[in-house]
Amino acid sequence: MFVANKDLLLPARQKAYGVGAFNINNLETLLAVTEAATEEKSPAIVAVTPSAIKYGGLAYLTRIVKTAAETVSVPMSLHLDHGENFEIASKCIAAGFTSVMIDGSFLKFEENITLTKQVVSLAHPKGVSVEAELGRLAGVEESTVEEKEAVLTDPNNAKEFVEQTGVDALAVAIGTSHGAYKFKAEPKLDFERLKLIREKVNIPLVLHGASSVPQWIIEKATKYGAELAGAKGIPEEHIKKAISLGIAKINIDTDLRLAFTATVREVLTNSPKEFDPRKILGPAKDAMKEVVRGKMRLFGSAGKA
Ligand code: G3H
Ligand code: 13P
Ligand code: ZN
Repeated sequence: MFVANKDLLLPARQKAYGVGAFNINNLETLLAVTEAATEEKSPAIVAVTPSAIKYGGLAYLTRIVKTAAETVSVPMSLHLDHGENFEIASKCIAAGFTSVMIDGSFLKFEENITLTKQVVSLAHPKGVSVEAELGRLAGVEESTVEEKEAVLTDPNNAKEFVEQTGVDALAVAIGTSHGAYKFKAEPKLDFERLKLIREKVNIPLVLHGASSVPQWIIEKATKYGAELAGAKGIPEEHIKKAISLGIAKINIDTDLRLAFTATVREVLTNSPKEFDPRKILGPAKDAMKEVVRGKMRLFGSAGKA
């Protein structure tokens, strides 16, 4: 069932569970998400970044996700992740995305409001949901954001931003970052800030950079030759707490990439005679599917569809 993010996030917000947004850029990752959602009876958000579009093509990616969503009985949306300008958002809306993120977090506050409002006025009449971001995560944003340039979300600004723009969901910066190297020391999120934002903002909140970087996957990848020393993510307990404090959408990309890579390395090492892509990518798809299933249980969305 093909739906908009709003249809998935409002019930999640009301019942205090989270819906995973899983980044895809190929068929295997999409199948992993679709099969996991079906088996877990969970809603799912399929997220596509501008660089995924560059890689897979807007028309191809849109068609395969639409086909998946129309084939399964669980609700799924197709979401533009980190759209950096009006043009990409409008192209995705025209292509049939049911949700777009307009990421003006690199702009000045007023400019972010103006850009977000423009996208909202294009999207809402078409039934498309809009997510915006306030504050700046370290790691991969529109371009790489250095740690010192990361800015946590100000709760008062969040209130004003939501009132002025009419967005459906707001991505907040509370100490997470994109990628596999989130913390040099102990993992730490600013839950007090999240509470304050929640008190002032009544729409679903979004946590980017939410991968946990499971150490067993790092160990498996390392066993088969990967170099990932120092990789560290968000502990699962932190994710649960964030959901209890109002996070309704949780973005996962890195954990899928890690599961994929570890498994491809394992298969190629253990089966050096294998050269059928399906025998290499099939197990990688299954590994990603298990990761997605685990996330759906952790976020509490399993059994909600
Ligand atoms: O924030 C999203 C990603 O993890 C970065 O994705 O490499 O497709 O731009 P990308
Ligand atoms: P991770 O890098 O932690 O998976 O975050 C993904 C993300 O926020 C996509 O928007
Ligand atoms: Zn993100």
